[in-house]
Amino acid sequence: MQPVILAIESSCDETSASVIQAGKVLNNVIASQTVHQKYGGVVPELASRAHQQQIYEVVNEAIDKAGIKLSQLNAIAFTRGPGLLGSLLVGVSFAKGMALALQCPLIEVNHMEAHVLAHFIDAPRPTFPFLCLTVSGGHTQLVLVNDHLHMQVIGETRDDAIGEAFDKAAKMMDFPYPGGPLIDRYAQQGNPTAFSFPQTQIPGLDFSFSGIKTAFLYFLRDKKKAEPQFVELFRNDICASLQFHLVSMVLEKLKLAAAQTGIKAIAIAGGVAANSELRSRLRAQADKLGWNVFIPEFQYCTDNAAMIAMAAHYKFLAQRFASQDVAPVANLAIAD
Ligand code: KG4
Ligand code: ZN
Repeated sequence: MQPVILAIESSCDETSASVIQAGKVLNNVIASQTVHQKYGGVVPELASRAHQQQIYEVVNEAIDKAGIKLSQLNAIAFTRGPGLLGSLLVGVSFAKGMALALQCPLIEVNHMEAHVLAHFIDAPRPTFPFLCLTVSGGHTQLVLVNDHLHMQVIGETRDDAIGEAFDKAAKMMDFPYPGGPLIDRYAQQGNPTAFSFPQTQIPGLDFSFSGIKTAFLYFLRDKKKAEPQFVELFRNDICASLQFHLVSMVLEKLKLAAAQTGIKAIAIAGGVAANSELRSRLRAQADKLGWNVFIPEFQYCTDNAAMIAMAAHYKFLAQRFASQDVAPVANLAIAD
């Protein structure tokens, strides 16, 4: 059977819906929430309200654009976690309501598995097994992917995510939220060796970003004491140096994971996979080490329902359905 599935993503601050037919993503409707900008970060209470306001329109648009009737849907998929509980609840409840009304099955999707499976939306698709570095605002993980439904976290952050380090550093420089893409933009005109930051040594494949966050805070404080206009005067060099440091941290671990596992098929996923330096240095490292790299399109790096739809497609083929009493889980782990 070639299923038609509607997928809903509402884990953080994007309300998104997508329709997939026979494994081909037909659309990917995303309504971003601007309400958080003035607070310098996502406000959970406001995020869930915005999802509630936007979800009906977003789902309708995805159905309309797909040119299908509701009765053609074979399943309704949703993000079960990880994410903000209030935000997840909106998507889960909407999906349950639709599945009840249409008398069709529900499919629950792990948001982090979906980031990895975004690589199967378009060619070139990775071959199994491959390693995926998933870097987002909430997570930093090294995932060993054995097949569409079997993956294992082999390394992860012990504290903050890399995206959080980007966003918090940007906030310290008074950039609007989310600051990651702005650091990327300014860094392109800066010198990556202008400033250096202390290395955090974490053994094995785990990461830690809390040290660099604190080091950056003290760096700015000390520099501003000597020159109050320090950020304005050296903005591009600061961004380039910080970005160089953060990207080096994850590439080091990726190199170690590839050496330990002997795997040369390497992918990146998640919002920070949109970072231009990570993309270009990964390609350079791949040339040097003989890796075959997979880098998703920009629209499938940050949160989107197309990746949820892709994950749901494989679950449908394996007949892995959820029951009506399923509840969202804020820290849902990847389960092999
Ligand atoms: O995957 P995502 O959309 O949401 C989460 O699941 O967290 O990732 C959002 C994160 C934010 O921290 C944002 O600043 C970061 O991805 N990000 C970037 C870039 N584009 C998005 N960080 C660095 N450079 C970028 N170009
Ligand atoms: Zn995400």
